Amino acid sequence: MGGQAVVTIEGLPVNNVLHPAQAAMMTTHGAQCGFCTPGFVMALAGWLDERAFDPDREASAPLKLDDGVVPSVSLRACREAISGNLCRCTGYRPILQAAKSLARAPPTALFKTHQRSPSEPLSDDAADPGGYTSGFREPQSLSELKTLLRQQPTATLIAGGTDLMLEVTQKQGRFDRLISLARVPALQRLELSADTAIIGSAVTYQDLQAATALSWPALHDFLFRLGSPQIRNRGTIGGNLGTASPIGDLLPILLAMDATIVVGHFDEPDRPVAISEFLQGYRKTQLNPGNFIREIHVEGLQDFLRYYKISKRQEDDIASVSVAVRLGLKASGVTLARIAFGGVAEQALRLPALEQALQGQIITDSLMADLHEQVRASLNPISDVRASRDYRREMAANLIVRALKEALGTPMPQIYGLDDYA
Ligand code: FES
Repeated sequence: MGGQAVVTIEGLPVNNVLHPAQAAMMTTHGAQCGFCTPGFVMALAGWLDERAFDPDREASAPLKLDDGVVPSVSLRACREAISGNLCRCTGYRPILQAAKSLARAPPTALFKTHQRSPSEPLSDDAADPGGYTSGFREPQSLSELKTLLRQQPTATLIAGGTDLMLEVTQKQGRFDRLISLARVPALQRLELSADTAIIGSAVTYQDLQAATALSWPALHDFLFRLGSPQIRNRGTIGGNLGTASPIGDLLPILLAMDATIVVGHFDEPDRPVAISEFLQGYRKTQLNPGNFIREIHVEGLQDFLRYYKISKRQEDDIASVSVAVRLGLKASGVTLARIAFGGVAEQALRLPALEQALQGQIITDSLMADLHEQVRASLNPISDVRASRDYRREMAANLIVRALKEALGTPMPQIYGLDDYA
């Protein structure tokens, strides 16, 4: 947050008049113990500022919380507005009612008036007049990034910090040298064509989601399951690759797409690395001191693609199991098969034998039954707090069958129910 203006709930009222989000939460009795309330209020205030009501979604999931007024925002939009916050007291109905009531509130511009000037320097250069030795740096160009890496090749790279900073908040860790990638324009590249994508490593999930609505709808829709708006506004695809968590949300889909990772270095040419080579084990990658992830190249956006994430909670939760299935489909059968899993081993992985068993085949019930068995026999996940070994294995096998049924056009029940709060 260096250099940013931070607005807290205390800053919302103007001349002792409550902000509409505060008033709405009071009117609907959206607070009980109050522990969660500032987070919900600030989320709603930001939502009101953005006026992020999506009319397209209203038709598909009309709000059913009846206060006698014609619904004007969808339940889904209200849920997304408050997601990223948990309440243990009230239940969510009154908070959703507060969100709904804001659809009729006048727009605000609270946060836009506090935006930081891009010229404000964040790096503490004065501390190191002879060069970079320690502390936080925020380079503004690729050459500046390379200069810093040349001076300190083992410095920790940070983009959104949504995963990396758990080392600090959960493990009392400390980083002596941090280089931010967030303001390097070359790492913000985002180009999408009909069948290809080039995604800079510092592109946030939010920007990626906004850009892929038409060109890559499978990814766009999935990104609603990645964290919450707060996380998606900060987290980046490069960060997901760099930390290489076994349940990194984007890793299975990038494996299924045969993505190429372009790895940069402070004095070597960029190096393209296949993602299957890039991931080396539990939180291990091909990144060495002096390296950084420059961008990700993906082809095949037109292929059939399904990506499922099973987690205990719909929003803001870590996957127990995730499965990505990409298929090339012709009347003659399956012309291309890529199947990747997250949460079933120490790293995200593909099952080549499973892909070969599908390649060239016509999808039939007996093939699906065979593949179901093959998945169960091939995977040996761990049991932990999120899911048991058997559950993970069963889910992974079932999701393969589901993807194949969807490839055949079989109507399937919705996984991510929107009506459960209605
Ligand atoms: Fe108590 Fe939400 S009001 S946690």
